[in-house]
Amino acid sequence: MECKEIKIAYLEYGSIDELPQEEKELAKAAVKAANASYAPYSNFNVGAAVRLEDGTIVPGANQENDAFPSGICAERSAMYAAGAHYPDKAVRELAIVGGPNHTICDDPATPCGACRQVMAQFQKKAGKPMKVILAGAKKVWVFQKVDDILPLIFTSLDNK
Ligand code: THU
Repeated sequence: MECKEIKIAYLEYGSIDELPQEEKELAKAAVKAANASYAPYSNFNVGAAVRLEDGTIVPGANQENDAFPSGICAERSAMYAAGAHYPDKAVRELAIVGGPNHTICDDPATPCGACRQVMAQFQKKAGKPMKVILAGAKKVWVFQKVDDILPLIFTSLDNK
């Protein structure tokens, strides 16, 4: 028996304004996107923005429903909008920001497992690492690839 460890690397900044220009722009687009969040049940408003390979930014926001499972997270709504509107353009970066009642949490809101799996699929489709920016008011984390927030990504055997 061997005890193994997985290490993940990420960058931490003190605020969105400290990010490099392009990342800052994407994080700010996610903040703006949160205005369209519809979250009457959780009152937790999340915005997301993806940047495509040609620079296009596609926003998304969480959308809740009386039938709870029918709702969707902000980042999945942004990725699926990108897939629906720009099917041939690779997604290069994703930014997420959220908090209760249209505020931004001090620590970054971290994506749910289902969204991480969808990120993995978009990264796989792109064939290149997809950067993930999780922005809080007092901490901003930048992951260079989806593998860093979803270690041991599932891939079907015939894709290995
Ligand atoms: N939510 C997101 O949109 N993204 C996340 O990364 C975490 C959770 C949404 C789902 C639901 O509308 C609300 O936040 C509370 O879970």
